[in-house]
This record gives sequence, structure tokens and C-alpha cells, in this order.
Amino acid sequence: MSDQLSGKFRALVTRACQTRLHSHSPYSGFRVGAALLTADGEVFVGTNVENASFGLSNCAERTAVFSAVTAGARDFQAIAVCADGVQPTAPCGACRQVLVEFGLDMVVLIAGEDGIDGPVRQTTVRDLVPDAFTDFRNHSRNISEEGP
Ligand code: THU
Repeated sequence: MSDQLSGKFRALVTRACQTRLHSHSPYSGFRVGAALLTADGEVFVGTNVENASFGLSNCAERTAVFSAVTAGARDFQAIAVCADGVQPTAPCGACRQVLVEFGLDMVVLIAGEDGIDGPVRQTTVRDLVPDAFTDFRNHSRNISEEGP
């Protein structure tokens, strides 16, 4: 359960679970909420927004990150994810890669629908994405030197 979690992390999980109730998920029926905590204590939330054209659906985690970055925040200490189901659901691969962009040390709290009253996993982006792809520049061909 969440007895080990700090107060700020418990509050973050609760925000994620509240946000999950705003989910637009008529196709999957699977509601997900996310709450992203910045270094200076601000919280940005996101939910999954599905579309009749399935591929356009956006996950809760990415909605939260895009909202925060749009507002000028990009230094994050933690993200909480709260999905339907008693057992915690870990972020999908696409969302993990988006989180990598903003820091491998970011704490990831993964909760089920009972929030802090149910099982909550605490991990990090680093642990969720071993051998993460973070930078292509050291590996790319220098086009100006080598020509087209
Ligand atoms: N979903 C998320 O919001 N986050 C994840 O990390 C996994 C999947 C959403 C996408 C879709 O709306 C629904 O869950 C079913 O895949």
C-alpha cells in the first residue's frame, strides 16, 4: 500500500486519480489520470483522450507532460499515474520515452483505482527504461563534413 509514501507523493497520486475521472475513453472504457510534479511544487494533470480514429488517442501521461511544457515547466520531480483496475498499470512504451526526455531520475508512482488506499508502486524513469535512447547527436553522421 502507500504507507511508505511521502505526503507530497500521496497527494500526487490522489490528483492523478481525480483526473482519471475526466478521461474521454468511450472506445476502450479504460480511464487513466496522471499528475506531474515540478521541481518547485507545481502540479500539471492529464488524462487519456481517445478518438474515433483510434490512432489519434493520447495517453494521460503525455497529456500531462505536454500541458506542463506548454505552460513553461520542464523540470519534473515525479509523475503519478492512476488507472482503472485495482492493480497498478505501468505507463506504455511511448509515454516512457516521452518521460525519458525530461529526466531519468523522475520518480514514477503507479496506482490503481483505489489510489493511496490500494497498491501503489514507486519506481523511476531510469528503472522503467533500461538503456534509454536519449541522444542521437554523438552517433549521427556530420553531414556538413561529409556532404550529401
Ligand atoms: N493509456 C494511457 O493513458 N496511459 C498508458 O500508459 C497506457 C494506456 C490509455 C490509452 C487508451 O486511451 C487506453 O489507455 C487504452 O489503451
